Amino acid sequence: MTKETFADRLKCAMERTGRKQVDLIRMAGERGVKLGKSQMSQYVSGKTIPRPDMLRFLAEALETDEEWLGGNESVGTGQEESRTQGGKSMREFQKSTKLDNVLYDVRGPVVDEASRMEEAGMQILKLNIGNPAPFGFRTPDEVIYDMRQQLTECEGYSSANGLFSARKAIMQYAQLKGIPNVSIEDIYTGNGVSELINLSMSALLNDGDEILIPSPDYPLWTACATLAGGKAVHYICDEQAEWYPDIEDMKKKITDRTKAIVIINPNNPTGALYPQEILQQIVDIAREHQLILFSDEIYDRLVMDGKEHVSIASLAPDLFCVTFSGLSKSHMIAGFRIGWMVLSGNKQIARDYIEGIKMLSNMRLCSNVPAQSIVQTALGGHQSVKDYLVPGGRIYDQREFIYKALTDIPGISAVKPKAAFYLFPKIDVKKFHITDDEKFALDLLRDKKILLIHGGGFNWKQPDHFRVVYLPRVEVLKEAAKSMADFFSYYHQ
Ligand SMILES: Cc1ncc(COP(=O)(O)O)c(C=O)c1O
Repeated sequence: MTKETFADRLKCAMERTGRKQVDLIRMAGERGVKLGKSQMSQYVSGKTIPRPDMLRFLAEALETDEEWLGGNESVGTGQEESRTQGGKSMREFQKSTKLDNVLYDVRGPVVDEASRMEEAGMQILKLNIGNPAPFGFRTPDEVIYDMRQQLTECEGYSSANGLFSARKAIMQYAQLKGIPNVSIEDIYTGNGVSELINLSMSALLNDGDEILIPSPDYPLWTACATLAGGKAVHYICDEQAEWYPDIEDMKKKITDRTKAIVIINPNNPTGALYPQEILQQIVDIAREHQLILFSDEIYDRLVMDGKEHVSIASLAPDLFCVTFSGLSKSHMIAGFRIGWMVLSGNKQIARDYIEGIKMLSNMRLCSNVPAQSIVQTALGGHQSVKDYLVPGGRIYDQREFIYKALTDIPGISAVKPKAAFYLFPKIDVKKFHITDDEKFALDLLRDKKILLIHGGGFNWKQPDHFRVVYLPRVEVLKEAAKSMADFFSYYHQ
């Protein structure tokens, strides 16, 4: 017999009262109780259980008995609690409250359900994560060959910010992109860009400091800013305007606690590529309000339609900028874990922050050294990824296919992506009566065995989008699109 969990009782009470997550969040707001969307969804998905004061609020809001709702499970108190088992007192451990508002649904509850289904023997088509290798994208032979050759020289730690050869190659790459005032000391390699996003946020943000992050975003940015104690303030990217940042919204959201603006260009999840005029306007805002610019450019070598990527740091020699990139996507080596960040422009104003970056960089000793050893090889010479991005190339052809196939479905529209390998289609929520996008993703998963991430997973506030990773081959995408067309022919919430 399976044990009833807090999440089960919560969902039961929600169903009984007809109250949805949004209603509870709104009621909490009205009563001055701090309850975020991600926190609420963690309760519902069973990832976490509430503390006593939150339990009390939920019980009241759901007109139910607090003791019943809390059940026999240990209720978090911030202190580890004891309970007895077989007469023996057992100490239990709760995760840190620092994680209460952290959301990372790219590997979240819908993905957990997919794993459960796989364990039960079902085959799931995974369109949820930008991991090229499982879809047959192979690392260039030269990269593998060079790593093999150097492996025995990579047994020790490197210097904390990385091997000289890797940093030199990254520095030259930054020069080619016109990023000003970059010396070899301004380059930090990381175990993927992920590690450096975390590191750069931890080194910068004090409790309550604000940072502007796009909505939709790559959710690691919001998660790391939040975990660092900062407040992620989301500016809207405008679907009507090719998903470019809404400059007016960005301006409106700046306060005297704002420290920085994050842009993701090219963008995950929308596939947008920002033109120079938009970047210039963002630079102007950062200049006026004296803000740091963080630019996540991990897809800068995956641009289509003859367009060119411009690094925002190249337009801002007088500002302090941090530019992120890596080889996970352009060289199909997400598993090797290699990324970097480049500090540029006005470093004087960030001397103390840079000390913090150095401290955290030293504390993790160094990033994966074998992966650093092939940065020079990877960044030099022919960029084989380019062959995928032109007509006849896999990424280009897969984009053409999925864009047409999905936008042909009545009730689905999309902006055609210009870069990366994501599409962020819009659902006509009125047509399908969709009010909960996570439920939509779960229903699609259960009905059609297709795993994708709902818009909410990217800090998109309306339940009207989802992200498709179009890395699978066209034949596979064809099957997926057919199943989705069928799903949308009957689906209603
Ligand atoms: C926008 C963006 N930034 C950073 C990352 C993390 O990449 P890495 O493999 O370098 O950690 C991803 C991965 O999907 C991404 O989409």
